[in-house]
Amino acid sequence: MLVFNQQPIGIFDSGVGGLTVYRALHEKLRGERFVYLGDTARVPYGTKSLATVERYAIENSQFLAARGIKLLVVACNTASALALPKIREKIGVEVVGVIGPGARKAVRLTNDRANPRIGVIATEATVQSHAYSEAIRKASARAEILETPCPLFVSLAEENWTDEPETRSIARKYLQKIVEKNVDALVLGCTHYPILRRVIQKTVGENVMLVDSGEATAEEVENILNEKNLANDHPPKHAGERQLCDDLDHFYVTDAAERFARVAERFLGVKPAKLEAVEVFGLDKLNE
Ligand code: DGL
Repeated sequence: MLVFNQQPIGIFDSGVGGLTVYRALHEKLRGERFVYLGDTARVPYGTKSLATVERYAIENSQFLAARGIKLLVVACNTASALALPKIREKIGVEVVGVIGPGARKAVRLTNDRANPRIGVIATEATVQSHAYSEAIRKASARAEILETPCPLFVSLAEENWTDEPETRSIARKYLQKIVEKNVDALVLGCTHYPILRRVIQKTVGENVMLVDSGEATAEEVENILNEKNLANDHPPKHAGERQLCDDLDHFYVTDAAERFARVAERFLGVKPAKLEAVEVFGLDKLNE
């Protein structure tokens, strides 16, 4: 029986995009093991309603809770924006979303400006929820905020069209208002956008600070683990040399495992060693 701090960290996303958050966590927290669930049967979440995203998010969380996790990272920005309170109600472990950490980092990076201007790009559902605006506002009364959806970026990232002319032209169109606003920082408020980081940076200009919400989340998770004595006190041997997706981390998907493995290889350069297809439907009714 593992002691609580030796249990894995759970991560869920609507699909494969959350692997950017997994990568950030893995890089920072070499002594930890991870259990990842990608809800590939029901992706995308970014175009769905609040009630649906909440239900899916709870089912995913219950699935991971049953795997004995010590902390849950909601890697999906849309689920973090819409479902965090409901997840916290249902799950007995610490829950960390990606919106708060991304917003706080953007405020920290722009705090020295007289009139900080922060842009946020995300899915339609995340933008409509204004969760980023609210979180930024909480951390800074001065910041001017501009949120804009970039839905096609999700498919472009999964196709690995990171530098095609089509991608550049779509980026110019989506980011026009952000460029006109002359923002100081731009939050990449969707799991997939770090894959397109270079084209986004080129489009908005090199002087704009890009904030990767996944990286910001990994920094906050590290602090939480230390503050709450949750860091693994019995890390795996050779933790420092661990590889992404090695057999200490377990990946689950709700459909199309092969496609997940293919896109994982594009995103991370390696396929998961342990990958399983599972069913999570109906788990939201647990504990009712
Ligand atoms: N994972 C989602 C997010 O970060 C993007 C993909 C989707 O729409 O489900 O918002």
